[in-house]
Amino acid sequence: MAGGSFVDSNGVRHYEGKVTGFVLITCFVAAMGGLLFGYDLGITGGVTSMDPFLIKFFPVVYRQMKGEAESKSQYCKFDNQLLTLFTSSLYLAALIACFFASTTTRMFGRKPSMFIGGLFFLIGALLNGLAINIEMLIIGRILLGFGVGFCNQSVPVYLSEMAPAKIRGALNIGFQMMITIGILIANLINYGTSKHENGWRMSLGIGAVPAILLCIGSLCLDETPNSLIERDQHEKAKEMLKKIRGTENVEEEYQDLVDASEAAKMVDHPWKNIVQPKYRPQLIFCIFIPTFQQLTGINVIMFYAPVLLKILGFGNDASLMSAVITGVVNVVATLVSIFTVDKFGRRVLFLEGGAQMLICQVIIGIMIGLKFGLNGEGSFSKGEADVLLFFICAYVAAFAWSWGPLGWLVPSETCSLEIRPAGQAINVAMNMLFTFIIAQVFLTMLCHLKFGLFFLFAGCVVIMTLFIALLLPETKNVPIEEMNRIWKAHWFWTKIVPDVAATVAPGKKVVP
Ligand code: BGC
Repeated sequence: MAGGSFVDSNGVRHYEGKVTGFVLITCFVAAMGGLLFGYDLGITGGVTSMDPFLIKFFPVVYRQMKGEAESKSQYCKFDNQLLTLFTSSLYLAALIACFFASTTTRMFGRKPSMFIGGLFFLIGALLNGLAINIEMLIIGRILLGFGVGFCNQSVPVYLSEMAPAKIRGALNIGFQMMITIGILIANLINYGTSKHENGWRMSLGIGAVPAILLCIGSLCLDETPNSLIERDQHEKAKEMLKKIRGTENVEEEYQDLVDASEAAKMVDHPWKNIVQPKYRPQLIFCIFIPTFQQLTGINVIMFYAPVLLKILGFGNDASLMSAVITGVVNVVATLVSIFTVDKFGRRVLFLEGGAQMLICQVIIGIMIGLKFGLNGEGSFSKGEADVLLFFICAYVAAFAWSWGPLGWLVPSETCSLEIRPAGQAINVAMNMLFTFIIAQVFLTMLCHLKFGLFFLFAGCVVIMTLFIALLLPETKNVPIEEMNRIWKAHWFWTKIVPDVAATVAPGKKVVP
């Protein structure tokens, strides 16, 4: 391997290097970042359905739920803006933080961003666990949101810069895998703590444990070579590259990193770049894929499954247990995606997932409509509840092998280096914005649209599936430098994208 690299028959450059112990520690830290995000996604659903929590912070909702307040239909029992703000405020804070985080990550390095993220998580979890009033709860959630913003920005970048190219793709979905594991752990903890008077404190406070690991981890780890080069510490960068690749033979990769950094510095306006016609497909995908991912309605299940199932007549335990079941399905189905995404391709997963989600949503809507009608009175029998849970699980599985991981993978793999920071920021921001909107309005919409809400989400799934069918070319195994050819071969994008030469030198594959 002269100079530490070779180009394979597909024109893709491979560098010498092993998966070192160092890289494994990197994975562990990244795992904490994903896990914390998942934990915060999954924890509120169970907590907001716990009686002591509601009695302490949301007595009105508690009375509504017990039917003591003025008569409310089942659909409206949890309709309370403050209660939803407890869940949603995190995502608004994350949306704001990701803009600051991208500057910190670029100017000061990936480590400080991860550390700051971990610190926010830690303080947020402690404030929540010790909360004595609603202000502490909401401020805690906002701090957790800042943590999500900083970690979602820095951890994936840290990972892809530290890891050898051959495991970068796997790590990308691995991050999503950790999110689903975080959600499942949160569901399990809620199930375990719900029997205690102060169970909600434990559920919210336990998030401090992975946060401490992330803080310590980020202090002990080294900075990435890319970040050192970006900040003109060239010698240190080369030494670091040797250390993480476990070889002295890093000249080629080092030179490529320097070239990439120089090229990136020449891009004065990444935001101006991405609005050029030649990047129109990427811009459209970076806006619409995260938006549609949230309009599948997945976070209705992630945030509100226990509350929703309680509304539908499941008991306390049954609601929390059902959340655990959907959590397991989510993890297992994400594994399916990891093993099939490079074999069957992105389109097959998107289209199959969309069709399956659509069928499930229509059936769920019909079942709830038949039982609760418009006035919202009724309850499911045990057998009916099992059928409903089956379709909820089938829906979660479909999401978890399609829009879940692909919602993050496709926007990042279609963006070349010169637009990636802007593309990634748009992607994360849109995702957080729509996560916030769904979290904030779902319970109110349920109150007004009743079972029709599930048909609304089903309508969105029809639109997004058509969007993929018509506009997304297959990107499986397509090196970044050939992306332009893909747009030119597509019936629609060929009319939009002007004829330009590939923007990355041949033989250099940039893997997300
Ligand atoms: C989404 C989250 C969602 C999670 C469920 C992620 O890809 O961005 O909003 O809660 O998947 O597993």
